Amino acid sequence: MDLFKVYPLFDITIEKGQGSYVWDFEGTKYLDLYGGHAVISVGHSHPTYVSKISEQLNKIGFYSNSVQIPLQKELAHKLGEASGLHDYQLFLCNSGAEANENALKLASFVTGKKKTISFSKGFHGRTSLAVAVTDNPNIVAPVNETENKLILPFDDESALEKAFAENEISSVILEPIQGIGGIYMPSQSFVEKIRSLCDANNALFISDEVQAGYGRSGKFFSLDHYNVTADIYSMAKGMGNGFPIGGIAIAPKFEAKFGMLGTTFGGNHLACAAGVAVLDILREENLVENSAKLGEYVMEQLKGISGIKEIRGKGLMIGIELEQEAGPVRKRILDEFKIFTGSASNKNTIRLLPALNVKKEELDAFVEALKAVLA
Ligand SMILES: Cc1ncc(COP(=O)(O)O)c(C=O)c1O
Repeated sequence: MDLFKVYPLFDITIEKGQGSYVWDFEGTKYLDLYGGHAVISVGHSHPTYVSKISEQLNKIGFYSNSVQIPLQKELAHKLGEASGLHDYQLFLCNSGAEANENALKLASFVTGKKKTISFSKGFHGRTSLAVAVTDNPNIVAPVNETENKLILPFDDESALEKAFAENEISSVILEPIQGIGGIYMPSQSFVEKIRSLCDANNALFISDEVQAGYGRSGKFFSLDHYNVTADIYSMAKGMGNGFPIGGIAIAPKFEAKFGMLGTTFGGNHLACAAGVAVLDILREENLVENSAKLGEYVMEQLKGISGIKEIRGKGLMIGIELEQEAGPVRKRILDEFKIFTGSASNKNTIRLLPALNVKKEELDAFVEALKAVLA
């Protein structure tokens, strides 16, 4: 059997990783400022993470949600502490798309309504509802086409008001920092408008924190930059540092009904051990603060480099828009300097999504490489 070739794979095989570095099978070392798609939050093979998962695997790796799993409660408690959402309720699943799928479904359950608002250039995943609200015609199959979605222009308050006036809205889903779209943030008043329209119309505000959450933006959730709270926060990527785990944090006013949401694998022992390890490391090593600090540092270093049109982002979620296509620049940075960076659907943008414990010198190495290539 061969692989179903859906990926434009780099011709690189990864054998192992440590901190912000990965090595291929020939022993070539790469600096990873991409984190395998914004997933690596506490660095590759962090010793605390490895030992917590190994210890758990020696006890038990999986049992289903038909039994009590104390590790889930520990994870929920620690997530409440880290995020400040102490009284929210956690539902665990396995990925970002699943988290959004459950969030959209839950909003429809509790409001009894069907229509969802999302925004241009947004990305929410590839399951049925998540892909339907994603603004990318190439990944929406005919079966996902639904009259229940409204994709509005990003940051356009009058379009938002009009959509609420003309439709029965169940939920609004927003990436407070758009990731794949190219690192774009809406204005403060737009986010406040979403909150007030949701409140006035019995609709739920879903903050998609799959990429920007878990400290990546320098605050625990990226919506925290706006001092606005969501009814549901969806999360995944950084939550397990590579171990598949996702979840939604649900406001206390919503009551669970038995069987409303469910999953076989979500919240299993091993995934929760990974999730608890990540939260412990984020706290012990002050990584959310580090993300804020180093993000500011590297954005400062990038200022004034000729060939850069705009630098966007918060914390260690950075978009560098070039005056030229980013692909060839990223390739040279990879080939000549052995540094991984990320792309965006905005073709001129390089995304930096390193581990939150990346070091200053590692970011400096990227700045020098970019300078050299752009020169
Ligand atoms: C903002 C956002 N939401 C949802 C997803 C989907 O997550 P997953 O690939 O884990 O299903 C992604 C993935 O890139 C994402 O960036």
